[in-house]
Amino acid sequence: MITNRNLIVLLAFSFVPLTDICEAVSTKMPAIYYGNQGWSMKDIQSFSSWVGKGPIVILLFTDWCNESMNNLFNYQLNNIWNNGSIPAITWEAFGCGGSSQPGIMSLVRNHTYDTYITQFGDRLKTWLAGMDGVLGNSDDRRAYLRLAHEMNGNWYPWSIGSTPQDYIWAWHYIHDLFANKSLDLTRLQWIWCVNNVDVGSYTAENYWVGEQYVDWMGIDGYNIGTSQSWSSWLNPSQIFDSMIARLQNLSSTKPICINEYASTSLSTGNISNITAKYDWLQKFCTYINNKQIIMTSYFNTDKETDWAIFGGVRGDSFFGNYSAYTAYRDCLQSNDWVIINSTNPRLISDEEFSGTVLNTTSTTTMVPTTTTSLTSSTASGTVSSTLVTIGLTTQTTPVTTANISTNSTIVIMTTTSVITTTDSTSTAVAIIFQCGIVSQNRLAMFIFMIMIFLNN
Ligand SMILES: *[C@@H]1O[C@H](CO)[C@@H](O)[C@H](O)[C@H]1NC(C)=O
Ligand SMILES: *[C@@H]1O[C@H](CO)[C@@H](O)[C@H](O)[C@H]1NC(C)=O
Ligand SMILES: *[C@@H]1O[C@H](CO)[C@@H](O)[C@H](O)[C@H]1NC(C)=O
Ligand SMILES: *[C@@H]1O[C@H](CO)[C@@H](O)[C@H](O)[C@H]1NC(C)=O
Ligand SMILES: *[C@@H]1O[C@H](CO)[C@@H](O)[C@H](O)[C@H]1NC(C)=O
Ligand SMILES: *[C@@H]1O[C@H](CO)[C@@H](O)[C@H](O)[C@H]1NC(C)=O
Ligand SMILES: *[C@@H]1O[C@H](CO)[C@@H](O)[C@H](O)[C@H]1NC(C)=O
Ligand SMILES: *[C@@H]1O[C@H](CO)[C@@H](O)[C@H](O)[C@H]1NC(C)=O
Ligand SMILES: *[C@@H]1O[C@H](CO)[C@@H](O)[C@H](O)[C@H]1NC(C)=O
Ligand SMILES: *[C@@H]1O[C@H](CO)[C@@H](O)[C@H](O)[C@H]1NC(C)=O
Ligand SMILES: *[C@@H]1O[C@H](CO)[C@@H](O)[C@H](O)[C@H]1NC(C)=O
Ligand SMILES: *[C@@H]1O[C@H](CO)[C@@H](O)[C@H](O)[C@H]1NC(C)=O
Repeated sequence: MITNRNLIVLLAFSFVPLTDICEAVSTKMPAIYYGNQGWSMKDIQSFSSWVGKGPIVILLFTDWCNESMNNLFNYQLNNIWNNGSIPAITWEAFGCGGSSQPGIMSLVRNHTYDTYITQFGDRLKTWLAGMDGVLGNSDDRRAYLRLAHEMNGNWYPWSIGSTPQDYIWAWHYIHDLFANKSLDLTRLQWIWCVNNVDVGSYTAENYWVGEQYVDWMGIDGYNIGTSQSWSSWLNPSQIFDSMIARLQNLSSTKPICINEYASTSLSTGNISNITAKYDWLQKFCTYINNKQIIMTSYFNTDKETDWAIFGGVRGDSFFGNYSAYTAYRDCLQSNDWVIINSTNPRLISDEEFSGTVLNTTSTTTMVPTTTTSLTSSTASGTVSSTLVTIGLTTQTTPVTTANISTNSTIVIMTTTSVITTTDSTSTAVAIIFQCGIVSQNRLAMFIFMIMIFLNN
């Protein structure tokens, strides 16, 4: 019934992902691994033209070797940063030339690598300080550091010959060493990244280094399809659900990212099915929205199988000479993806960099001209002509307040909210959404309330 001064409350209970609505704020950061470790940006530039926006983060791999360190800090990181992306350094505890050094975490514990680690930290600090080499001013740079990833597998030397206790000790030691160099969270973000399944003697949980030593919790996971004799086609939820739940159990506050993911096109037997891969990419796009995964890094190189979505052996279209899967590009067209801020020398905001952007409240425009009175069993609290108080239904104390300016729609990121008013003269339209905070309610039932305060 619409009558004078009545409140119309449209209460829709839905399983729609919160992000569909909350993304008035751009939160997601496109990332990619392009295989060339920052030596050439040519393909990345073509890739960016195809997508229509550049990758915020470019993943690379480097080993524990003096010469690699020179290349990394003199050339590779500069190329990536100067071409407008933030490097994510996968710091693989291999010896020179990728030689295996089993027990390397135990050797760190024995201080065998002190010189190397200290040098790396110093070089990193200098690089992060930017052109002038002075940490703490406007030309400072940013980087992600992904140390000794996929430790819960059994294929890397940092898992072989070292115990999880060695690993945790080494992580803490290196982390503290760098923290002591004033490499704070606005410059360096640490990614602790597991394989999507445990393989070998230890679980991801065995290797958990603790919340205070981690900024992001990462996962690597692939749809290997039928490309291997032992593998089969898996959708994103089959690949990631379980580990995401486990990581959320380790920390309810740290953002989760996917540092390596890709799909083959081999869906049945040995036969490539481009449609199947296209569909998989679409599913992944929906999946990360539902799970509020805000950084995802595509492994764009045909290595074990035809992983690439751009410039690989297959695609559903061409961009120049590059074969491409349009489902990937389509996913990145919405404006909830972070783009580089060209007037910010540090490329993105601190909140975006640290994945805390979902914690901020956003307001967009459109509402009342005057205020009106409300009589409703769900209404409580007060409203002045410009101030709206939002409170939990179960709480008497308001959790959030926001001023309604002329023609503004309020989008409040909080738990179930009620808009309240005792005023008697205005027309207001307020839309209140319950949005998930990074760690909570990733895909949850939310209450979507449209409350229209009518005045005639
Ligand atoms: C971009 O990367 C290329 C390497 O492909 C490098 O030569 C060039 O200097 C970079 N651009 C800038 C502005 O530094
Ligand atoms: C790396 O450099 C350090 C000091 O500059 C040196 O002590 C060490 O032996 C070098 N290691 C290798 C593998 O070259
Ligand atoms: C580290 O030192 C301990 C005690 O000195 C020793 O037992 C262990 O073998 C060493 N680890 C490696 C990998 O050398
Ligand atoms: C970091 O600094 C603290 C305080 O000065 C010191 O106790 C600690 O040993 C340092 N850690 C490392 C790994 O150097
Ligand atoms: C989370 O932790 C609880 C308590 O330790 C445990 O019972 C539950 O199985 C865990 N859930 C997952 C998904 O690991
Ligand atoms: C699958 O295809 C590849 C190349 O297309 C071929 O080398 C391989 O033998 C095939 N495997 C099977 C099991 O048919
Ligand atoms: C390829 O995959 C699509 C989508 O999964 C499916 O509908 C189609 O039947 C598949 N084609 C073949 C030849 O298997
Ligand atoms: C495609 O590749 C051919 C041969 O390598 C080259 O001549 C041509 O210029 C390329 N075209 C584009 C659009 O890159
Ligand atoms: C871009 O960066 C500049 C400088 O840090 C900042 O003042 C401005 O608000 C940013 N713009 C956006 C849209 O975030
Ligand atoms: C978001 O805010 C909550 C509550 O204030 C806090 O506990 C959490 O650490 C924040 N999340 C991140 C990723 O900073
Ligand atoms: C609302 O606006 C009033 C007057 O401009 C101001 O004093 C008050 O701080 C604002 N409240 C909020 C929550 O922004
Ligand atoms: C508010 O909306 C009305 C109707 O759409 C419009 O005429 C008015 O100019 C808007 N006021 C402001 C301040 O945007």
